[in-house]
Amino acid sequence: MTMLDAAPTALSASTKLHQRRRPGHALDGEFYTSPTVFEVDIDAVFSRTWIFVATEAEIREPGDYLTVEIGRSSVIVLRDDDEQVRALHNVCRHRGSRLLTEARGDVGNIVCGYHQWTYSTDGTLLHAGQQAPSFDKSCFGLKQVAVRSESGLIFICLADTPPTDFDEVSARVSPYLAPHALERTKVAAQIDLVEHANWKLVMENNRECYHCEAGHPELTETFFPTYGYAPEDIPPRLLPAHARYLAAEAELKRVCDDRGYAHELIEELSGRPSAIRVERAALDGAGESYTMDGTAACRKLLGDLDTARLGRMSLHHQPNMWSHFMADHAVVFSVLPLAADRTLVRTTWLVHQDAVEGEDYDLDHLTDVWIKTNEQDATFCRRAQEGVTDPAYEPGPYAPTEYHVDAFVTWYTERLQEVSR
Ligand code: FES
Ligand SMILES: [Fe+2]
Repeated sequence: MTMLDAAPTALSASTKLHQRRRPGHALDGEFYTSPTVFEVDIDAVFSRTWIFVATEAEIREPGDYLTVEIGRSSVIVLRDDDEQVRALHNVCRHRGSRLLTEARGDVGNIVCGYHQWTYSTDGTLLHAGQQAPSFDKSCFGLKQVAVRSESGLIFICLADTPPTDFDEVSARVSPYLAPHALERTKVAAQIDLVEHANWKLVMENNRECYHCEAGHPELTETFFPTYGYAPEDIPPRLLPAHARYLAAEAELKRVCDDRGYAHELIEELSGRPSAIRVERAALDGAGESYTMDGTAACRKLLGDLDTARLGRMSLHHQPNMWSHFMADHAVVFSVLPLAADRTLVRTTWLVHQDAVEGEDYDLDHLTDVWIKTNEQDATFCRRAQEGVTDPAYEPGPYAPTEYHVDAFVTWYTERLQEVSR
């Protein structure tokens, strides 16, 4: 099939796809396995909504860049010479060559390797060799991609007219992020994991902790396994954990109220393009961080924080990010689809920019819990992908604790509906 054939096929598929959802149930296998649905997803979701791609800490200096692949698009995310974050299509305006071919690096100007057209870091065409007298350089700057930084988290949108509801998201989320001062952080570690599963299975897996108690022994040292349960539905075996949770929550609320830190739950996981969930929640154990005993992994706290006991400020943004901001570090995840059955999960650990490895933090202590948790989740997602590919697969019903998964699938179906109008 040529590219020209593929587009109408994917589009016509999308006119019916959203009708194939049975409320309260997982999706049909085809949603996770079909290359045509994958193309629809790139078009309906990843080309139209705000996508989380990086943290500002990854491009601290003018000229620092990284490249992001979304479907057939490649985008350069960089800090320009005026220190502004920019996103530019990675396509030369001469004959279309990819410009930057590395995953990250730094540039003075952006020089095309083919015939050396040269662009400044804001995308302006500076040099184009010998051209006809009528050639107007100002018409051939690199195409800009919509970009915004929300308190140091960089989002891009490939659409010409990005969803405007992100303004509202930004206004509501920024007070939660502000105390963690991501503008004064550095990358302590970053790990890319290619999961053998559809991107939706990766997100769905993240949206429930039904599997945490049995599946994540390290994470549940500090993450309360009662996540997702309504208080009246908590099974008897989890009641001791729930009692600890209530006590820790009460203390966390006091600590936040004393300091004016936002902590209330915002849960808007469907019904609009820029869907989010935000809350500050207590951690078990020492209550400071995602480590094996809950103690802080970094001695130097983020921003100007005066207490390590701030639990986790968790931010989820559909379609492709979840993240946790503790007092001592932040761990952020981006999910990028590679193929119907392959997904890139990038995990980035941020610490205070002045923290010194070996003195203020130990890398293994900092990263241990989430490295293990990610590996466990990758296994769950791979097995799920294998199962939904099996002809015997039939979508089963969601449990009440899986209401976030249900909301995610609802949001996804809304995006399909939008392109089929
Ligand atoms: S394609 Fe880039 S300079 Fe020719
Ligand atoms: Fe998990």
